[in-house]
Order: sequence, then structure tokens, then C-alpha cells
Amino acid sequence: MKNIVILISGGGSNMLAILKAAQRDNWAAQYQAQVAAVISNKASAGGLVLARAQGVATEVLDHTSFASREAFDAALMARIDSYATPGHPPLVLLAGFMRILTPGFVNHYAGRLVNIHPSLLPAFAGLNTHQRAIDAGCQVAGATVHLVTPELDHGPILAQAVVPVLPGDSADTLAARVLTQEHLIYPRAVVKLLQDK
Ligand code: GAR
Repeated sequence: MKNIVILISGGGSNMLAILKAAQRDNWAAQYQAQVAAVISNKASAGGLVLARAQGVATEVLDHTSFASREAFDAALMARIDSYATPGHPPLVLLAGFMRILTPGFVNHYAGRLVNIHPSLLPAFAGLNTHQRAIDAGCQVAGATVHLVTPELDHGPILAQAVVPVLPGDSADTLAARVLTQEHLIYPRAVVKLLQDK
């Protein structure tokens, strides 16, 4: 069995979409893969409650209790790697994990570290993507699932979804429209990766 570890910082709606797809489409039987754990850098992350309700193990690793970014990333790596199974290092999914990761961390998980970003990359890497898309007068916006490389929000694209930007949109209304699409493309991109291996 190949273990998947999901990293979150907040509400965890993408995490939940992945958990539900894994159950609905029986990833255990289809791809010999399961979500083994959800790890948050914040104890208050709402997604932890959702994960527990789905029977998934959760862990909290509070970044504020580490002296440096490197120390936090090393501890996180140790927790993730504890879910390795013989011949199968874990697949790691960032789902609203709002931490910049060190190159050492990213390189350790090369090819098996995935992120979802709420813009049509390479446009609008970084934060405040929806307001920036509205301010730029974009007529479409969207989300991107990509492999993580050391350069922020720049790895190979696995999936994208496009939504219209509508007259009168605020960052919140646009974010909600994009999020519904995120919930569709993230599980699909993970399945693609599981099928490739
Ligand atoms: C999602 O919109 C995700 O794309 C974004 O945070 C939200 C998390 O929502 N990620 C980033 O901005 C990463 N830079 P969720 O916790 O409900 O899945």
C-alpha cells in the first residue's frame, strides 16, 4: 500500500475532496493507495476536525515552536517519512498549506510533492491571487495543480481549471467559484499520478 500524506493549514476543503474521492473511487483497491495522515502546522486548522471525522489520523506540528525554517522542515520530513511503506515513499499533497518550504525539503520529495494554487499559473504566483486577477482585468481565472519545485508556484503543471471572472466579482466571490473547481481537479490530478506509477 502506498501512503498519501496531506499537509494543511486551514479549512481543508481540498483535503476533504481528496478524502471523499479516495473513498468513492476506492483508491485502495484501484491504485493500492490510501490517505494515511493529515498534518497541520496549525492546531486550530478546521481541516483537522474534518479529517478525524473521516477516520484519518491527524498530527499537528506547530511551526512557531521551531527555531528555524530548516528545523521545522526537518521535523516535518521525519513525520511524513514515518508513513513510508516498503518500496513506497509517501506521496505528499499540499492542500492550503501556507508555508514556504526549504529547497532541502522540496528536493527530498522531488516528483512526489504536489500543490494546488488558486490561479492559472504561471500567472499570479504568490498570495492574493483573486484580487490581483480582478485588478488586472482578467476575464478568466482558475486554479492549478502542479508538482512542487524549489521556485515558488513554478513546477510542472498536472491540471488546471478555468472559471469566468464576472462583473461585480469580489475576491471572495471569485475565490468561491474557483474553489469548487479545485475540488474537482485536485483528486483527478492525484489519480493521474497514482496511475503513472
Ligand atoms: C485553496 O484555495 C488553495 O488553492 C489555496 O488555499 C486554499 C485552501 O483552501 N492555496 C494557496 O493559496 C497556496 N499558496 P482549503 O483549506 O479549503 O483547501
